[in-house]
Amino acid sequence: MLRSLSLRLLLVVACAAAGAPAVADVAKGEKLYRQCQGCHSIGPDAPNGFGPQLNGVFERGPGGAEKYSYSAAFNRAVKQGMRWTDASLDEFLTAPLNYIPETRMAYPGVKNREDRQEIIAYLKLVGPDGELPETEKVKANRKRKQPRPLAAEAEIPAHGVLHLGRVALPEEIAAWDIDIRPDGQGLPEGSGSVIDGTDVYESGCAACHGIFGEGMGRWPVLAGGHDTLTDDRPEKTIGSYWPYLSTVFDYVRRAMPFGNARSLSDDDVYAVTAYLLYLNDQVDEDFVLTSENFTSIRLPNEGNFITDTRLAEVKTTVASDPCMTDCFDEPAVVTQRARILDVTPDKDTDEGSSATID
Ligand code: HEC
Ligand code: HEC
Repeated sequence: MLRSLSLRLLLVVACAAAGAPAVADVAKGEKLYRQCQGCHSIGPDAPNGFGPQLNGVFERGPGGAEKYSYSAAFNRAVKQGMRWTDASLDEFLTAPLNYIPETRMAYPGVKNREDRQEIIAYLKLVGPDGELPETEKVKANRKRKQPRPLAAEAEIPAHGVLHLGRVALPEEIAAWDIDIRPDGQGLPEGSGSVIDGTDVYESGCAACHGIFGEGMGRWPVLAGGHDTLTDDRPEKTIGSYWPYLSTVFDYVRRAMPFGNARSLSDDDVYAVTAYLLYLNDQVDEDFVLTSENFTSIRLPNEGNFITDTRLAEVKTTVASDPCMTDCFDEPAVVTQRARILDVTPDKDTDEGSSATID
């Protein structure tokens, strides 16, 4: 027992020593790892997310993230002796669902072999504490992470009545002021083709939204649903429901990929927006979306959105005594039921439950 333990220790030491020089570029591995961040985290006290935290994943072995509930398929593979080595992790990352059918890691995989090796080398360097060893890059990072001065020590600003805060810098305003309007106001210069968008989408979006925008598991569906808006269960997608292309661009640039928002370049957002149009049958595969042709693209459901005129309506501007009873000649008609919309959880009995809103 002791012997095998010390042998194992020796092996770990040997691996660590052999692992380090194999890294071509930590920064590259770390950058490639960004595509995993929507589901995984790394770092001191990294929490589990949709996937387990990956601190020291090699040393702790498969299934070793505390408090993370792995899928049954994954646990079975561990029981059958699965181990993380360069080779096995390479195979897993190539196509997780082939390596462990029914794993919860519904991710198409990393196709490029070198990319996989960079990622694996990076994962190897991350210790159980979530820290990288003291490489040059890490030292540089540390410098940036100087502790901030305590609020109590900060100088009290002279301006304003409350002497709070400071005037925002132009860069700060620019970073925050990123909304894009339907008429194209706010669009950055740039362009992207459906073809380029395919790459952006497959590497950064398909893991959750599915290769064809069909949505993996319970992640949102991004394509299809045409002519379903009047159905009992409308399928609301960009193509079937959203009013303006500017909403798609703004949303993706602001919030996606989930967990790694604002990581795409403007051209990548143009490209992936073009690809989403393609998935929704709005453009051909050779289409290129640019800041110039952007507003010429109209989404099919735009006409069904109307301007909010409530403030100008007679009842709010004129009627000082709003009608509260019998205001309509005809009886009210129920047009939709919360139960059908799936808003209200099912009860044992549908009848007579005060919690069920009809
Ligand atoms: C869509 C979410 C998602 C993405 C994206 C994703 N993973 Fe995972 N990953 C998971 C889930 C969920 C599991 C747990 C698998 C199970 O329980 O079946 C997992 C498991 C793992 C494991 C095994 C962990 C352990 O404790 O043994 C490794 C290693 C891993 N992922 C690496 C990666 C890498 C590297 C990437 C990026 C190239 C990545 N994953 C991208 C969701 C994801
Ligand atoms: C880790 C999973 C994940 C990844 C990767 C991801 N998304 Fe999402 N996406 C989500 C989730 C979750 C939502 C819903 C968020 C919400 O409603 O707050 C969403 C919502 C969306 C929506 C709005 C859908 C709707 O009808 O409301 C769009 C559009 C979208 N994502 C595009 C993208 C694009 C483009 C990418 C790649 C650049 C991407 N997503 C990557 C998880 C992901």
